[in-house]
Amino acid sequence: MTLELGVLVSGNGSNLQAILDAIAARTLDARVRVVVSNQPGAFAVERARQASVPSVVCSHKDYASRQAFDQRLIELLQEAGAEWIVLAGFMRILTPEFMQAFKGRVLNIHPALLPAFPGTHAIRQALAYGVKITGCTVHWVDSGVDSGPIVLQEAVPVLDNDTEESLGERIHRAEHALFVDALRKLSQGSIAPPGQA
Ligand code: GRF
Repeated sequence: MTLELGVLVSGNGSNLQAILDAIAARTLDARVRVVVSNQPGAFAVERARQASVPSVVCSHKDYASRQAFDQRLIELLQEAGAEWIVLAGFMRILTPEFMQAFKGRVLNIHPALLPAFPGTHAIRQALAYGVKITGCTVHWVDSGVDSGPIVLQEAVPVLDNDTEESLGERIHRAEHALFVDALRKLSQGSIAPPGQA
């Protein structure tokens, strides 16, 4: 099936780019219906523009509550015809109302081998802890932070002289392939949403 995607972003958007590139190369059967950024300056928005994909900036700061912001996100995504929601570096926690609206249809990518190092500083924490192997995880989103059923993982070795930057670069490269792979498997029916396996 063709996946109708809504992609939520907050920053650089290199994962969004990997998805757009795979669609353009016809190695992923999907359409990005809309990219929504909560950060006005996010480079991800420029990437969407360059790919002629609709994008919307919707700043959480313009809303009185998390619920009101998420309600607007739900509207934007539904109006655009998004059926599957991809969190590609989206730095906001979603409400139970949002999760209910897209139950079992929200995927996230995280730069660590969950359940190790959840949260915003996964790469720094992996280095500080001294793990020899870290990686990245694609998972279904539930109501927790970086929790929910794991879909795919890729291991990335930590090298002796790694910095946050050098390790981050290798993890990002692994992420791009892994996220596209997960979406491809979803479109081909070889992975199923939680509860439907
Ligand atoms: C990625 O490392 C992802 O795992 C995390 O946020 C980062 C987003 O990077 N959730 P980018 O904006 O896709 O380049």
